[in-house]
Amino acid sequence: MPEADNSKDAKNYYLDVPVRNDLFFLKGSNSYDWGMKNRLARIFNPASGKTVMLAFDHGYFQGPTTGLERVDVTILPLAEHADALMLTRGILRTTIPASTQKPFVMRASGGPSILKELSNEQIAVDVEDALRMNASAMAVQVFIGGEFETQSVHNMTRLVDAGMRYSMPTLGVTAVGKEITRDARYIGLASRILAELGATFVKTYYVPGFETVTASCPVPIVIAGGKKLPELDALKMAHNAIGDGASGVDMGRNIFQSEAPVSMIRAVRKVVHENMKPEHAYEYYQEMKNAAAGAGVGA
Ligand code: R5P
Repeated sequence: MPEADNSKDAKNYYLDVPVRNDLFFLKGSNSYDWGMKNRLARIFNPASGKTVMLAFDHGYFQGPTTGLERVDVTILPLAEHADALMLTRGILRTTIPASTQKPFVMRASGGPSILKELSNEQIAVDVEDALRMNASAMAVQVFIGGEFETQSVHNMTRLVDAGMRYSMPTLGVTAVGKEITRDARYIGLASRILAELGATFVKTYYVPGFETVTASCPVPIVIAGGKKLPELDALKMAHNAIGDGASGVDMGRNIFQSEAPVSMIRAVRKVVHENMKPEHAYEYYQEMKNAAAGAGVGA
């Protein structure tokens, strides 16, 4: 038992210091419970308000994607440079060391492979299992305009409901079918619908006019990288997205399919967190790449 605290006169209640009552730093996220905010603050850096997520969940519908044949070899060296990882539970439990301190977003929808109609997804992870794994968020694909649009929206709303019970954020991912024109009108429509229906944050594609997408979406947006581009183009895309109001990137192929993945993710960080101009970030990428080559270590 502690000793009695009788030093009444020595106490200091700082009566002249107002109690802090700060707003949460992330767009649209101030009304959530503490646990939800804390999970979001693990994904988004509270200092910059941004995130660099590393996406390598592609195998959930397309198997051993180029660059992801051996996640233990190609992705683990990159993980330390990401703010958060986006992955499946199969890869988490088989390949990611449980000692990691890195937050991760758990892919929680799936079903069809690339051989079938992709929009026919269902919920693929129970929120209790996401909690057991200590996930910081769950991710679900939503196919606005797709054949199974309503089903995929319902997948998301059920995950949002489950997530709200435990303060687990839900990342709504706009999946864009081949037949759909990928422009600001469509991306704005899809992102807004996901936010209206409860997505805690949204992942979508960068398109010209993206400032109208972020302006009309009340929750944070991170951009997917999409198909592999030349490094400078990928850095320009990230820079434009941040300039147009994105809260970060969730990038996969443009990092792990790069000639120098570690150098690339470090350059992406410069753009996202420090607003470095893409040309300078590209110089930084080349310097890192050449230095690694000179030292005979992985670039
Ligand atoms: C695709 O469905 C996966 O969910 C990826 O997480 C997403 O496409 C981002 O990866 P990438 O930057 O390669 O497009």
